[in-house]
Amino acid sequence: MIPPSPVIRVSHLTKRFGAQVVVDDLSFEVAAGETLVLLGPSGCGKTTLLKTLNRLIEPNGGTIEINGRDVRQQKPEELRRGIGYVIQQVGLLPHLTVAQNVGVVPGLLGRPPAETAARTTELLNRLHLPAERFGPMLPAELSGGQQQRVGLARALAADPPVILLDEPFGALDPITRTAVRRDFRELDELRRKTVVLVTHDVTEAFELADRIMLLDKGKIQQLGPPRELLLHPASDFVRSFFQAEQLALQLRVVTLAEVQPFLPQGQPAASADTPTLPPTASVHEALGQLDAGAASAFRLADQPQVITRGQLLAAFGQALG
Ligand SMILES: Nc1ncnc2c1ncn2[C@@H]1O[C@H](COP(=O)(O)OP(=O)(O)OP(=O)(O)O)[C@@H](O)[C@H]1O
Ligand SMILES: [Mg+2]
Repeated sequence: MIPPSPVIRVSHLTKRFGAQVVVDDLSFEVAAGETLVLLGPSGCGKTTLLKTLNRLIEPNGGTIEINGRDVRQQKPEELRRGIGYVIQQVGLLPHLTVAQNVGVVPGLLGRPPAETAARTTELLNRLHLPAERFGPMLPAELSGGQQQRVGLARALAADPPVILLDEPFGALDPITRTAVRRDFRELDELRRKTVVLVTHDVTEAFELADRIMLLDKGKIQQLGPPRELLLHPASDFVRSFFQAEQLALQLRVVTLAEVQPFLPQGQPAASADTPTLPPTASVHEALGQLDAGAASAFRLADQPQVITRGQLLAAFGQALG
């Protein structure tokens, strides 16, 4: 089988502001349907890199291809209509209603108004902003979390295959942030899209990324699946970047299949109402299941015995060596 060609191909990209090199000779690809998360400290060049992809910023050197075409061959406005974009400050148009904001790009693309209205209603409802109530409101009448949901709906409205998101959950309190992020993850159509998402939140990166690009001073420090960066950091910078949240992140990347060899044998048999988890589930998911439900133990699919929380944590510790 021929592997799907990358949707985004960046080669030797460089951007300077005066003497400062903000994006320093970056080369990478993003595959169709992949979610790439750009992570790194404030000022490391994440927003600048993202904005070069849809030509809001013109680079000093290097090339960017999207769907096999050099972005410079396309008019910036046309390019941008084909790419969903959520900016760091949400940026809704203040004099348009919520529904009109969501419909801006489909309108520019000449889609039939009835189709756009139906799509707007569908998206707002799915993002927990009932269209009947929120559609006619102005952005200023919405909370920060509601505005960010509208920003997401707007980026998705024209159903673009590529979506760029710059801190789409920034400026939210932690509880709202978790809720908006869950709504985002549960949007099925995002799984089919090629997504480049900027965050400086490590947990968010691990939750959403197929691969993480960790940047510092305009250079890639490491690019790979979250577990690679965590378990095999390429440098002290990478290691120290995840240090503060190491345990919580390890719980997310280690699977039940990996801890299974360290679980005790000869446990009591599970009953019919014992929750069952697949071996591909993470230790984090298993703990979440135990905390949420009434059950004090679970079993692995195809395994007869119960596993308690304490046994799971002990085996997790051993699996990490
Ligand atoms: N228009 C500009 N003119 C001059 N310098 C700029 C400009 N835009 C960005 N910079 C500089 O480029 C560097 C990278 O900025 P950028 O906005 O890409 O960072 P970032 O990684 O997105 O940071 P944050 O996490 O704070 O959003 C910063 O040092 C910033 O001061
Ligand atoms: Mg930024």
